[in-house]
Amino acid sequence: MNVLIIYCHPSKKSYTHQILQQLKKVLKNESIKFEISDLYEMNFQTEMTEQEYMREGLLNLDLPIPEDVQKEQEKIENADCIIFLYPVWWSDCPAKLKGWFDRVYTVGYAYGYDKAEKENKKMKTVKYGISLCTAGHPNMFLDEIGIAESMRNIMIDDRLGQRFSNKELIILGGTLDRKKVEKDHSKIVKSIPKRIKKYCA
Ligand SMILES: Cc1cc2nc3c(=O)[nH]c(=O)nc-3n(C[C@H](O)[C@H](O)[C@H](O)COP(=O)(O)O)c2cc1C
Repeated sequence: MNVLIIYCHPSKKSYTHQILQQLKKVLKNESIKFEISDLYEMNFQTEMTEQEYMREGLLNLDLPIPEDVQKEQEKIENADCIIFLYPVWWSDCPAKLKGWFDRVYTVGYAYGYDKAEKENKKMKTVKYGISLCTAGHPNMFLDEIGIAESMRNIMIDDRLGQRFSNKELIILGGTLDRKKVEKDHSKIVKSIPKRIKKYCA
């Protein structure tokens, strides 16, 4: 069972980094293998170049898929479960993670199979995907104002979509008052190995 963590936060002093440390610990305790794409640490390029656009937007499929993108696609192919861990910024993921989707989800691999399927290997169906995000606002407020639903529509229904057989959005909300929520968040993180085993066994 292999887990890929796509981690996106610029600071090791952050609460989101604390959650990453907890997650690593609980996975290790359950002997679940994992690898991490730490997008800031890797300095992952998230802006699409003009050449990439020519391939993705204008379907010039002879153009090469950049090496850093190929590496991320290989990690996806090795994964049974992918966890996207990030802070909610302006009601979505940080731009760096959005750019990961822009570049790594190439045509013929993650979408547009009909036109491009002959020349490209199609992305596997990943057994389980979790969008695990920390948020300043409490979950109840994000539900009330419709933002939780919009995040679910975009991250789960669209970005993970049919590429994942099981998927869920877990919002670790209320981080503006951390003391109040830390314990509950830890409990949720501790429950993750059980969920992974359920869907990836
Ligand atoms: C640029 C920026 C935008 C943010 N936008 C939101 C938001 O739209 N909704 C929300 O609930 N919290 C928002 N927050 C709060 C973060 O989600 C919160 O700080 C984070 O989840 C936990 O803190 P960390 O940065 O220490 O990991 C924002 C924070 C920053 C820095």
